[in-house]
Amino acid sequence: MKGRILKALRETNDYVSCQTLAGRTGISARSIEDHIRGLESDGYSIESSSTGYRLISSPDLLLPYEFAALEQRIRHFHETDSTMAVARKLAKEGVEQGTIVIAEIQTHGRGRLGREWRSPRGGIYLTIILRPKIDPTFAPRLTLMASVAVATTINRLFSLQARLKWPNDVLIQGRKVCGILAEIDADIDIVNFVNLGIGINANNSTLEFGNTATSLKTSLGRDVLRRDLLAALVREIDSRQDSLMDADLIEQWKQLSATLHTDVIIAAPCDTIAGRAIDIDTTGALIIEQADGSIKTTVAGDCEPYSLTE
Ligand code: BTN
Repeated sequence: MKGRILKALRETNDYVSCQTLAGRTGISARSIEDHIRGLESDGYSIESSSTGYRLISSPDLLLPYEFAALEQRIRHFHETDSTMAVARKLAKEGVEQGTIVIAEIQTHGRGRLGREWRSPRGGIYLTIILRPKIDPTFAPRLTLMASVAVATTINRLFSLQARLKWPNDVLIQGRKVCGILAEIDADIDIVNFVNLGIGINANNSTLEFGNTATSLKTSLGRDVLRRDLLAALVREIDSRQDSLMDADLIEQWKQLSATLHTDVIIAAPCDTIAGRAIDIDTTGALIIEQADGSIKTTVAGDCEPYSLTE
């Protein structure tokens, strides 16, 4: 309801009468005022006059009713511990594929390998619940897909050149703008759900994160419209659901990669591997050629640039 009223108010800079709003939205004139009050308490500034209502400003919030096509899929929190924790509970309860948990702030945002993901206001923090019909071996392809989707969306919307650092960081000019965390619930032969957590430094400052991080705001020198970015990203992820197993996904990841053909050191779960990153395989594992010519493959780990001559 609120979404329809907003849409009608945004169609003009002028005042819109209660009757016109009722006619355009199909909401009874009597309820319009209640919804207007509801919007005001959500942070919208709406001027009232004898001739009707006029929208002055909107809060920068990712409220479900701002996304007509996604409204039913979004669970929005002004603050939560971690969207991963909320999504896990929802996924266990059986919510539908495509449900999206969004938070404006996370108090205990989680990064890969047990790290913290700092989540101040202005960033975009979401977890999307997917139930892909794929062999669990190929589940890492979902993080590849998500990283390709994020980089593609950023590059298209902002004409930036986001690149990918294996396994799934999105970088702008070598600095991390987005991290992706996947949690899987699977049996040996079937994936029950994969929760894809995506954290984007959008309008938040990353000054206190150190010089390995950046935000879209810092890169562009202006705020971005988080709503447009989120809507475009979800469209991009949705459009990739049926082609998860296509060779094209690996090709697209390679095209965007900042890791391939560079020398790296990987702190893998059981090993440290140094060498030249030469390829990824169909599961998304990184293939490294070591100085002695031997080949190692790793599905997980922390990847950093390395000088083989050191
Ligand atoms: C990483 O690069 O270490 C992964 C970071 C993933 C952060 C996102 S923000 C939304 C979701 N909720 C979390 O607690 N973490 C992920």
